Amino acid sequence: MKNVHVIKHPLIEHKLSILRDEKTEPFQFRLLVDEISYLMLFEATRDLPLRFVRVQTPVAVANAQKLDAKIMICPILRAALGMLDSVFKLIPDASVGFLGFQRNEKTLEPEFYYAKLPADHKERTAIIIDPMFATGGTAIDAVNFLKQKGIQDIRFLALVSAPEGLKRFAEVHPDVPVYTACIDDGLNENGYIVPGLGDAGDRVFNTE
Ligand code: URA
Repeated sequence: MKNVHVIKHPLIEHKLSILRDEKTEPFQFRLLVDEISYLMLFEATRDLPLRFVRVQTPVAVANAQKLDAKIMICPILRAALGMLDSVFKLIPDASVGFLGFQRNEKTLEPEFYYAKLPADHKERTAIIIDPMFATGGTAIDAVNFLKQKGIQDIRFLALVSAPEGLKRFAEVHPDVPVYTACIDDGLNENGYIVPGLGDAGDRVFNTE
């Protein structure tokens, strides 16, 4: 799967080990989701275009470069809200395009219920964020939705992924890069990633 990039880093590995631990409390879980997303976003944006500018420093004029891309972060509600702060820390002028999908617990397939994109979404690079890349169904539908809206540059950022979902996604959207911190063993009969980290939304928001 050429579109899948596993971001390996000792700090990410270490933080993931604590994130996975069932004893990790919600406040620490949220902090870790934020920190890992921050580190991963660095890689997921490595190839963003730049434009040359001239900046007056207190000493002289410097040749410098600024981002030449407008970013739209698309959190998939609701677990991805835990990743949003890290994005704003790195890209403070990003816009947010919310995407609401919920899983039908019987079919395990996603059901669309909400979207709110910025008016200039067509001009933006979309980075979809979702901590868990499980069956791939939500990811496929989210990308379908953004492609239908005319968005050209779409990337996906997930913390933990299942091989089944990544494979299914790559068959439909081979042009969309997926950045993930790890690929786990697989899915269980309930569509949970094994070993995974449980229900990310529940752990971020301290619900059951
Ligand atoms: N969503 C989660 O929160 N966890 C999983 O393991 C799969 C989907």
